[in-house]
Amino acid sequence: MNLNHVNISGLRPIVGDGRKLYIETYGCQMNAGDSEVVLSILQGDGFRYTEDPAGADVILINTCSIRDNAEQRIWGRLRELRQYKKKNKGLLVGVIGCMAERLREKLIDQEELVNLVAGPDAYRDLPRLLREAGGGAKAVNVLLSGEETYAEISPVRLDKNGVSAYISIMRGCNNMCSYCVVPYTRGAERSRDPQTILREARELFDGGYREVTLLGQNVNSYRWKNGETVAGFADLLGAVASVDPKLRVRFSTSHPKDLSDEVLHTMARYPNLCRAIHLPAQSGSTRMLELMNRKYTREWYLGRIEAIRRILPGCSISTDLIAGFCTETDDDHRQTLSLMEEVGYASAFMFKYSERPNTKAARHMADDVPDGVKTARLNEIIALQNELSLRSNRLDVGREFEVLVEGVSKRSDRQLFGRTSQNKVVVFDRGDARVGDYVRVRVTDCSSATLHGQRVE
Ligand code: 5AD
Ligand code: SF4
Repeated sequence: MNLNHVNISGLRPIVGDGRKLYIETYGCQMNAGDSEVVLSILQGDGFRYTEDPAGADVILINTCSIRDNAEQRIWGRLRELRQYKKKNKGLLVGVIGCMAERLREKLIDQEELVNLVAGPDAYRDLPRLLREAGGGAKAVNVLLSGEETYAEISPVRLDKNGVSAYISIMRGCNNMCSYCVVPYTRGAERSRDPQTILREARELFDGGYREVTLLGQNVNSYRWKNGETVAGFADLLGAVASVDPKLRVRFSTSHPKDLSDEVLHTMARYPNLCRAIHLPAQSGSTRMLELMNRKYTREWYLGRIEAIRRILPGCSISTDLIAGFCTETDDDHRQTLSLMEEVGYASAFMFKYSERPNTKAARHMADDVPDGVKTARLNEIIALQNELSLRSNRLDVGREFEVLVEGVSKRSDRQLFGRTSQNKVVVFDRGDARVGDYVRVRVTDCSSATLHGQRVE
């Protein structure tokens, strides 16, 4: 028997038996984290990971449904994978993640392309599904769960830097923003046992990791009840920050309606809780925010920004913005631009509205902003953000920052790159620094995307 493939449970049959598994991940950080859970589950069943799809026996595509172009890209990739299926008749291709949940039958009906479909709450069932698919059956599990958090599964890290890792702290979403497909693909919100989160953070730190990002669709509504005691997100943040002062802690994503002063005060108490908050605004127009079912106004949002500035001076703020949502007028659009100016975002993810089937917006509102207008507005938003990013970076020139080194610069192997607590990338001459070190860097120059600096002792 090959000792690498021993199944420790002893009772279950080994499904993988050394067969090679390749996983390709699209979409958000949650998906990146999920792929690591999937790998852990399948390694436990005897699969070996390969980075080469051409040599794989099983290919899993972890998919995203957030916008139509995300799905189109995956259809294209599935058609490309046919070349491998032609060469290797036993190759199994599985679609997992959000698109698996949304399109189930449509995917499995493509017999030439797809052998297996598993939604985000069905990953423990993958060994069984792969066995079924291997026997020629259509293998589908898209059941959503009220409880699944994969709490005790230790993800097998797929990222290569060994410095920063994601920790999933909750799954699903209860917000029902009218444009968004996530509540339908990931189900209802549920939080993970904090003890398992803390254990994972400690193991990562002991393994040399120096940064964790706590992930959830709406981390500020994290809530764990144990008898009489209830732990909220601020409690969890404090506990993870206490694992070690040398462990940086980030989190994503916050919903403006739930970002409390308590969380901001907790951040202020721990220097290793990073000074960066991602606070998706989506729009600067209260009328749009109401149609989007965001449950806050422009004024409320600006009040949260004011609280961040007051309680956490020096904290950077980033956002997500959607251009051209249903009925958006030029005036609504101008309010988004003015909100951006007023906040002065350090960075932003910016999108054209893409109608998603069955969402509240798709059912009740007309997608009535012409595509050309959406594009023009998005371009204006992007141009303004480039200016704001440059402005924000210029304010850092001449200042000193503690930088966690993440890797070798793409441009020159004599240079390293890392991040400031504010989540800005800094490139600097390597000297004797190594990946995983904290170094002090004085910023000497910048572009809109990157800071350049020199080490100071
Ligand atoms: N169209 C465009 N952008 C969307 N997002 C979510 N749903 C849509 C959609 N239907 C954006 C939001 C969200 C980010 C993850 O993706 O800005 O915060
Ligand atoms: Fe895409 Fe949203 Fe699913 Fe993440 S949760 S993979 S962004 S649809």
